[in-house]
Amino acid sequence: MNSLSSLMFPFLFLFLFSFSWVASADRHEDFLQCLQYQNSNAISKVIYTPINSSYSSVLQFSIRNGRFNTSATPKPLVIVTPLNVAHIQAAITCSQKHGLQIRVRSGGHDYEGLSYVAVIPFVVVDLINMRTVTVDVANKTAWVQGGATLGEVYYRIAEKSRTLAFPAGVCPTVGVGGHISGGGTGMIMRKYGLAVDHIIDAQLIDVKGRILDRASMGEDLFWAIRGGGGNTFGVVVAWKLELVPIPASVTVFNVTRILMKEDATKLIHQWQYAIEKFDEDLFSRIFIWRSANSTQEGKPMIQAAFTSLFLGGVDRLLSYMQESFPELGLVREDCIEMSWIESTVYFAQFPRNTSLEVLLNRGPRSTIFFKGKTDFVKEPIPKTALEGIWERLDQVDAESAELQFTAYGGKMNEIAESSTPFPHRAGTLYQIHYAISWDEEGIEAYAKYISWIRRLYSYMASYVSKNPRQAYVNYRDLDLGVNNLGNTSYRQASIWGTKYFKNNFDRLVRVKTAVDPANFFRNEQSIPPLSSW
Ligand SMILES: Cc1cc2nc3c(=O)[nH]c(=O)nc-3n(C[C@H](O)[C@H](O)[C@H](O)COP(=O)(O)OP(=O)(O)OC[C@H]3O[C@@H](n4cnc5c(N)ncnc54)[C@H](O)[C@@H]3O)c2cc1C
Ligand SMILES: *[C@@H]1O[C@H](CO)[C@@H](O)[C@H](O)[C@H]1NC(C)=O
Ligand SMILES: *[C@@H]1O[C@H](CO)[C@@H](O)[C@H](O)[C@H]1NC(C)=O
Ligand SMILES: *[C@@H]1O[C@H](CO)[C@@H](O)[C@H](O)[C@H]1NC(C)=O
Ligand SMILES: *[C@@H]1O[C@H](CO)[C@@H](O)[C@H](O)[C@H]1NC(C)=O
Ligand SMILES: *[C@@H]1O[C@H](CO)[C@@H](O)[C@H](O)[C@H]1NC(C)=O
Ligand SMILES: *[C@@H]1O[C@H](CO)[C@@H](O)[C@H](O)[C@H]1NC(C)=O
Ligand SMILES: *[C@@H]1O[C@H](CO)[C@@H](O)[C@H](O)[C@H]1NC(C)=O
Repeated sequence: MNSLSSLMFPFLFLFLFSFSWVASADRHEDFLQCLQYQNSNAISKVIYTPINSSYSSVLQFSIRNGRFNTSATPKPLVIVTPLNVAHIQAAITCSQKHGLQIRVRSGGHDYEGLSYVAVIPFVVVDLINMRTVTVDVANKTAWVQGGATLGEVYYRIAEKSRTLAFPAGVCPTVGVGGHISGGGTGMIMRKYGLAVDHIIDAQLIDVKGRILDRASMGEDLFWAIRGGGGNTFGVVVAWKLELVPIPASVTVFNVTRILMKEDATKLIHQWQYAIEKFDEDLFSRIFIWRSANSTQEGKPMIQAAFTSLFLGGVDRLLSYMQESFPELGLVREDCIEMSWIESTVYFAQFPRNTSLEVLLNRGPRSTIFFKGKTDFVKEPIPKTALEGIWERLDQVDAESAELQFTAYGGKMNEIAESSTPFPHRAGTLYQIHYAISWDEEGIEAYAKYISWIRRLYSYMASYVSKNPRQAYVNYRDLDLGVNNLGNTSYRQASIWGTKYFKNNFDRLVRVKTAVDPANFFRNEQSIPPLSSW
């Protein structure tokens, strides 16, 4: 998408929306009647339309990006917050009958707001009331409902056992519905791989309203829902997790260096070589941003936070770091031993000794506007590339920009690319996550910051994966291409599809064609069925 058309996007939304509102008023009445008819079982208590006073607060509660929280953002005709499977089935059946689209929402962290924004008349099915987590310690498994957050999952596991964990993302308010549908990377991925590598069963409601489990959906569909992206194959009601062993005590550190550019270049360049040899017990990520502190010449400096989780004690970590990355100069005082569950609170950046109950808090912690993008690095990038990044961080609009370099390798290298739809496995040295945030409303701020991140992304092209230039679907980026509003061509979808899924894209298309040929479950970047090419 070029920058003009993306600037037009909000206006286009507005136009299409007001145009379709009148025509859809009837449809939405019919839809509501259908729901009541399908399910008299107290469903009206979980239906919100704009006339209900709580409609806005229910909608806004799980919005995590101010870009999609404006008066110009298209709103759902109806929000349903199901209490049970029958409510979801009714929503699916009635939406199809009355020509409405469904957007399923779990934690609402979608980078492009696709779980609660659409440009055609739509209904949000928000799973906020379906978030039971049932942990079976003896069998080392857990069933988690689609509306649970990662924080709730981690907390409930730790309530039962301090030596079991689940490998998934860092932010506790991320929902398992979207997160696991897209892969799920996190602090123990070098030891255990992704969330999807530990899903052993699921409960899914398909387009026909049937409740399927692993056995009845078959291995193709079970493969596809573990990473092929949400809102595509059906509604995931629950996942069955295989829990993994974790030491009673782990070690964390977050070492921040404020660096002259030359020193930042040197240290981060060295890190790229060190991680190739890192033990799988060691997770390593660098957060990089422009420091508020300046040198004498008034030039901004680079600030880099080296953040790690180590599955072992301080002594082993210190000797290991001395051997593998002495340039960082890690000392004992930098390291803190704690339980794994405490580390989830620590990495969520809560102050030390914050009570674990904070993991159960779903409320938004910030209301910033943001845009993110990802890249995968296959071989160390040269010092000149790093210098080019620093130059861009110096630009005025980059004040709140942040890069994250996340080491891959370890267990990630041992899992075949085709094992799940997530293809970024062996050969990936690290992942880059680019983010820029701002707090001013309006199209000018939007244009300014988004164009900054696009320029950086375009600069990085020659240093990262190519043909395709890979991206991670959980960090959804509509700049990579979007489906048509009506029918989508294979060629068009394969542009973003192969970036997210490489060769797995074709298998995803085959599964989609088999299970949802009319493309009922869809969004701007959902896998299209063959029939719509
Ligand atoms: C602050 C922040 C931190 C993050 N940290 C990480 C991280 O550490 N690791 C990582 O891998 N990712 C991370 N992410 C990305 C995150 O994994 C994705 O945005 C994920 O899709 C969010 O899931 P959700 O349920 O919260 O989002 P939602 O917006 O609710 O859903 C995302 C997509 O999945 C669909 N969906 C939701 N629930 C269901 C369901 N039950 N059945 C079918 N489809 C469904 C939605 O329609 C939408 O298309 C982070 C995102 C943010 C904003
Ligand atoms: C919303 O309003 C309708 C009509 O008054 C009512 O039937 C429904 O129960 C309300 N929804 C909620 C969640 O209170
Ligand atoms: C959304 O906007 C409302 C005000 O309209 C505000 O109260 C809320 O904090 C905002 N949420 C986000 C995530 O921007
Ligand atoms: C483990 O799972 C099996 C099969 O689901 C079940 O029969 C058994 O009761 C479970 N074991 C425990 C200790 O709960
Ligand atoms: C950075 O600047 C702040 C505020 O001026 C100051 O308190 C802090 O000590 C400085 N840090 C370094 C490392 O210079
Ligand atoms: C690491 O330190 C930086 C400050 O240098 C801080 O912004 C960040 O929140 C810290 N991260 C964690 C996980 O504590
Ligand atoms: C956290 O709690 C422990 C034990 O209660 C205490 O020893 C430690 O000083 C506390 N740390 C902070 C930073 O408050
Ligand atoms: C998409 O294509 C299918 C099959 O060719 C057709 O039935 C359907 O009406 C088309 N939809 C739109 C929105 O054009």
